[in-house]
Amino acid sequence: MIPPESPSMNPARLRKVVFPVAGLGTRFLPATKVVAKEMLPVLDRPLIQYAVDEAVDAGADTLVFVTNRYKHAIADYFDKAYELEAKLAQSGKSDLLALVQGTLPKHVRCVFVTQPEALGLGHAVLCARPVIGDEPFGVILADDLIWNGGAGAGRPGALRQMAAVAAREQAGVLAVEEVPREQTDKYGIVDAVPISERAARVRLVVEKPKPEVAPSNLAIVGRYVLPARIFDLLESTRPGAGGEIQLTDAIEALLHESSVLAYRFEGTRFDCGNKLGLVKATLAMALEDPALAAATREYLRSRGQG
Ligand code: G1P
Repeated sequence: MIPPESPSMNPARLRKVVFPVAGLGTRFLPATKVVAKEMLPVLDRPLIQYAVDEAVDAGADTLVFVTNRYKHAIADYFDKAYELEAKLAQSGKSDLLALVQGTLPKHVRCVFVTQPEALGLGHAVLCARPVIGDEPFGVILADDLIWNGGAGAGRPGALRQMAAVAAREQAGVLAVEEVPREQTDKYGIVDAVPISERAARVRLVVEKPKPEVAPSNLAIVGRYVLPARIFDLLESTRPGAGGEIQLTDAIEALLHESSVLAYRFEGTRFDCGNKLGLVKATLAMALEDPALAAATREYLRSRGQG
C-alpha cells in the first residue's frame, strides 16, 4: 500500500519533477531558431527524453515543463501523434510504432506552465508552484545529460539516487561534480562538509563566482531535490548574478533553516549546453550502442591517425 502523502521532506519516490525549458539556447543558434535546445538529439533521442526517462526512473508521475509561448515542440513531442501512429500501424511497422508511443509511460502526465518573462532559473522554478503544491519535488536541467546506463543497465539514474538520499537524510539534495577552477563562473558553487563517501552538508552556495573568490570547485550540475519551502524563499529572492532570479540564491536562504546536501552522483554528466558536450555525449552513446560501436570506434581510430 502506498502511504498517505506527507508534505514534509521526503518520500523516497519523487512524484513531481520540474523541467525548466524556456531558455533560448543561444549557443546552438541558428539551429535553435526553430528547434528547442532540449529537442537536440543525442543519437535518435532528444535531450528532453533522457531527462524525462531519468525523472520516471525516480518515480515521477507528473512532469512539469516550464516553457515559453514560442516553444511548442516539447508538448508536441510527448503528445500522441495520431496520423503517424495510424500509418505505422497500417503498414505493420510495430517496432517503429513502439518507439513513437514509448516517449512516456501511460501513468505519467505532463503539465505545461508558461514563464511569461525570462527572469532566471529561480523564477522558472517558481512558475511551477501551483502544480507542485506542498510536496518535495525534483528539478532537472535537460542540457546536463547524466547517464548511468539507462533503463537496461539496472542502475539508478542520478535523480533516483538523490531522492533516496533526500528521504534518508530528510534534506534537500543538489547534484554536484568537481569542475576545473577556471570554470567556477559558469556554475553554482558549493562549500560543503563531507558526511559520507558521496554526500556532503552544504554550508554555502554561490552563483557563478569568479575562480579567485569561489569557495571550492564543487559545482551544482542540473539536478535538485527540493522542499516546497523553496517557493516561499524564491518569492523574496531578488535578482542576483546576471540580473536574474537565481535558484542558487533561494537555496542559500534555505540552508539557514534546513539541511541541504551536495551529492556526488554515480554516472557520467555531459554538458550538452555546449557543442563539445553534445559531441561527447553523442560519441559516448554511439560507443555503447551495439549497432554503432564498432563503426564509431573504427572512425575515431581513422581520424586519430589523420
Ligand atoms: C544553472 C544554475 C547553476 C548550475 C547550472 C548547472 O546555470 O544557475 O547554479 O550550476 O545551471 O548546469 P545556467 O547553466 O543556466 O547558467
